[in-house]
Amino acid sequence: MCGIVGYVGPRESEAILLSGLARLEYRGYDSAGIAVIDADGDLGLRKRAGKLSVLREDLDAHPLPAGTTGIGHTRWATHGGPTDVNAHPHLADHEQLAVIHNGIIENYAQIKDELVSEGYSFLSETDTEVAAVLLGREFRAHGEDLVAAFRATVKRLDGAFTLLALHREQPHLVVGARRNSPLVIGLGEGENFLGSDVAAFVEYTRNALAIGQDQIVAITPEAVTVTDFDGNPVEVEPFEVTWDAAAAEKGGWSSFMAKEVSEEPEAVGNTIRGRVRDGVVSIPELDGLDDLFREINRIVIIAAGTAAYAGQVGKYALEEWTRIPVDVELAHEFRYRNPILDERTLVVSISQSGETMDTLMAVKYAVERGARTLSICNTQGATIPRESDAIVYTHAGPEVAVASTKAFVAQITAIYLLALHVAAVRGALTATEVAQHVLELEAVPEKIQQILDREQEHIEQFAHWMADTRSVLFLGRHVGFPIALEGALKLKEISYIHAEGFAAGELKHGPIALIEPGQPVFVIVPSPRESPVLHSKVVSNIREVHARGARVVAIAEEGDAAVLPISDEVLRIPLAGPLFEPLLAVVPLHIFAMALATAKGLDVDQPRNLAKSVTVE
Ligand code: F6R
Repeated sequence: MCGIVGYVGPRESEAILLSGLARLEYRGYDSAGIAVIDADGDLGLRKRAGKLSVLREDLDAHPLPAGTTGIGHTRWATHGGPTDVNAHPHLADHEQLAVIHNGIIENYAQIKDELVSEGYSFLSETDTEVAAVLLGREFRAHGEDLVAAFRATVKRLDGAFTLLALHREQPHLVVGARRNSPLVIGLGEGENFLGSDVAAFVEYTRNALAIGQDQIVAITPEAVTVTDFDGNPVEVEPFEVTWDAAAAEKGGWSSFMAKEVSEEPEAVGNTIRGRVRDGVVSIPELDGLDDLFREINRIVIIAAGTAAYAGQVGKYALEEWTRIPVDVELAHEFRYRNPILDERTLVVSISQSGETMDTLMAVKYAVERGARTLSICNTQGATIPRESDAIVYTHAGPEVAVASTKAFVAQITAIYLLALHVAAVRGALTATEVAQHVLELEAVPEKIQQILDREQEHIEQFAHWMADTRSVLFLGRHVGFPIALEGALKLKEISYIHAEGFAAGELKHGPIALIEPGQPVFVIVPSPRESPVLHSKVVSNIREVHARGARVVAIAEEGDAAVLPISDEVLRIPLAGPLFEPLLAVVPLHIFAMALATAKGLDVDQPRNLAKSVTVE
């Protein structure tokens, strides 16, 4: 939600801001705007409701004077509807100061009352304009020093925010601050950048700095200064962005989602790379944590949406291999129910963006309660890893489509590596057992590729005739259950079709009442060879729905003949051990959701109402 870009340097800032905003489009937004200080020191502003293209057209028709310092914003409406007036930047101090903001300022109404009583007026309904007007007042109260005024302003604000500001009286300066909301710094030669994430500036530099909570950054063309909210200098962590701008481009694919599904093999392969050798798992990021892994007696996985389903799959492997009890909790439920946590609990958060507010708050809560924390994250410089004791990055590369696909398989891979590492440290698995599982994991990318090569066309064909379907059910058992949930979520979010995932064993406890002739039901079928008992149970479930007229699509292992007489379509996945099947079975479901949405003529990358990075609670 909300994309933020800031630039100071020798180049024309408008193009840099617009290209940064374009790269942040994936976060989700409903209006966009920029503010630029031009060569005469005047402040130009343009903001429009709608897509970035609307803003671009406006700028083409009525260009702003060129300038080299600027800020840009894509807004996902919270306070006040998505209108031109509510779009950011917001001006204050007699239109000399511009502010953009991501997050929610919880005490804005109180501050607004105070400012109104002093005679200030407001144009928009936003909490952001309150921060802008307050900053304007503080600018005058602090000797026209934007950084000092910024410190005074942010200290007054409650809630979560990233704020960026510029003032025409200090034309080569952009100031930013963050609290529980993302902001990273890009370091150039004679120029510097700020962004919600590195995508904002990766086209220009891959040298970045991650700043911490409650910190303020001031960038000029030559310098970057980071302090806490009291002005004390703080250490910042440099990092190099591991992917280049091309990785975040469509590169000839019809959609980012299509590209990202095609990258599922690499997402798994790259997450494994450098972490296994000769059948031994060695995750450099976890060096020195063996004692912690020996001491813990419980693992709690917290996440939201697709990441939580990855966590549910991970639970099976963690418990199977480490014999440590694992709970999986939705992050937004976790901290509101007084969970039992202590220093022997390891709280593992999973987040592609590393910015999901619900997950971030749950991690902070776990830290406050004395638990140990480890984050599985796909985004360098993001907030959640910074709040955790340890990080295992997934190396899925930038995920731009709102619906998470390649990050999901990378998350499961990372949990499996963690589980194997912990199991080895605790002696819960022998070296031979670990080596066998590593071998299976290493074979996954190739197997996913086979599914992509063999099944894509078949799935696209039957998705086409299902374009008018009103409801689809997904059934799975054991690790197939979270995969059924993931299949249903993906379909809901991008094709707007009602979809539900059920544990197949629940069928007779209620959901079977939904089955009527023609009802499509996807069933994830366990391997007859690896899990004969589960296989026969699921085959019985298929019989039950098939007998009632359901249109069955079975996702079954190559050679499984039992499903043929009772299924309308069979999608084949290569042979794999029970715990590795979910990494394969999910692939046809991702392809199906995408194919159905495409058949309905929908935008698969930016589904309605959704944002990629949910940075508000
Ligand atoms: C679904 C989807 C969401 C995210 C969820 C968590 O396709 O993308 O359900 O999985 O919002 O996001 P992260 O992983 O960024 O914390």
